[in-house]
Amino acid sequence: MASYDLIVLGAGPGGYVAAIRAAQLGLKTAIVEKRATLGGTCLNIGCIPSKALLDSSELFARAKHEAATHGIGIKSVTIDVPKMLARKDKVIKKNTGGINMLMKTNGITVHTGVGWIENPTTVAVRDESGKTKDTLTGKHLLLATGSEPIELPFLPFDGDRVVSSTEALSFPEVPKHLMIVGAGVIGLELGSVWARLGAKVTVVEILPNILAGWDSGVAKVMKRELAKQGIEFLLETKVTGAEVKGSKVTLSATGKDGSELSLEGDRLLVAVGRRPYTAGANIESLNLKMDGSKIAVDQRFATSVAGVWAIGDIVPGPMLAHKAEDEGIAAAENIAGGHGHVNYHTLPNVVYTWPEAASVGFTEDQLKSEERAYRKGSFPFGANGRAIAMEATFGNVTILADKTSDKVLGAHIVGPWASDLIAEIVAVMEFGGSSEDIARTVHSHPTLTEAVKEAALGVDGRMIHAKN
Ligand code: NAI
Repeated sequence: MASYDLIVLGAGPGGYVAAIRAAQLGLKTAIVEKRATLGGTCLNIGCIPSKALLDSSELFARAKHEAATHGIGIKSVTIDVPKMLARKDKVIKKNTGGINMLMKTNGITVHTGVGWIENPTTVAVRDESGKTKDTLTGKHLLLATGSEPIELPFLPFDGDRVVSSTEALSFPEVPKHLMIVGAGVIGLELGSVWARLGAKVTVVEILPNILAGWDSGVAKVMKRELAKQGIEFLLETKVTGAEVKGSKVTLSATGKDGSELSLEGDRLLVAVGRRPYTAGANIESLNLKMDGSKIAVDQRFATSVAGVWAIGDIVPGPMLAHKAEDEGIAAAENIAGGHGHVNYHTLPNVVYTWPEAASVGFTEDQLKSEERAYRKGSFPFGANGRAIAMEATFGNVTILADKTSDKVLGAHIVGPWASDLIAEIVAVMEFGGSSEDIARTVHSHPTLTEAVKEAALGVDGRMIHAKN
């Protein structure tokens, strides 16, 4: 029976990062993972493969629609879907293989199999048939078992025509008509992939707007830009069921005026959220205190049972890989006797479509509803030299700052590389910085980052390259 200081259950971005940090701090660490490859949902069937397909499809769309603008003649642009999927699989392999290497170099023991909790200090590692291969003991147990797609009872997944995000990353050919339930981040990202490759895409959303929880201004611009790319949105529309006949899927829904709708397509992606995944590990035997459907933890990520810790999608907060990673680091530091913590106010959120959307901190809607006095600067990419050179003149950077102290309270960006640009604002917020701090920072010219600086100047009504 192998004994450890820490046993980590689940090797997603939360679990594997926690294991590395724990090993750095001198804890003898084991990680138990039931998938054959490490990296969890994110690396195997989530963030990484979706970005691989977003990159491939973007290249295709730009070659097809934008090359001519640059004077580049391409006679015919074609897509070889199996080859594109094979590249995606190679990208996954490179990433998951990298995690194996990190486990080795950090001296972390990887146990492949299903972790079955016998008690807070004992975990059996079982094979698929339920046979115990190994029994591990640990002074601490960290739960990082992630999440799974929510299945609607009236739209059960069949793994072929009615699918979750997992199968939508591997359609064998471009769908003729891809119907998507849910205008959240998965619906928009995977809808973008297949729309760029030529599918007709219809997104059906129960709420009056896309991207629930995002700044309403961002949602409006995103809807407009994605609609220009051919994605059709049916808002305030409630899906009631679907019927599959051969390769044909008929979706029924109720429109906002109460009228019955029927849509026909060849694939249906149900992307209505994810739920914590805690099945099959006997976690329930621990009788942990819950917070709704999630495991309750304190600020240190300790659960209600001594020695048992939890992070990532199974604990409260947004289901984001980078949130899980930072929680993993903080939990490992706390387990080792340190003082790790996560600043949730500076947690960025990104949608990797084109344009991208990124946000951090308060939305303008939240500041308004809290009647907080703020000032706002907003700079359009249409006035940024680099964006013009890139033919990417859509969207803008918006910075929200406290009216009295000028402290940055939040920001949102719609535009090229918003995912990277938001990092500067996150860093400034982490330091409790002001819009003036950004405005007085030299930004390289010509770069997209100048749009961030200009938005900061705009908080004080002194943008240089746009009217204030
Ligand atoms: P989501 O929660 O972002 O969006 C689900 C949407 O489905 C909502 O707009 C909701 O109103 C709608 N909906 C729910 N029931 C419906 C119904 N019956 N009919 C029509 N619409 C309905 O969930 P999504 O997109 O599935 O993503 C799941 C999780 O994965 C999220 O927590 C997200 O944070 C994470 N994720 C993050 C990514 C990123 O950071 N770029 C990428 C992919 C996933």
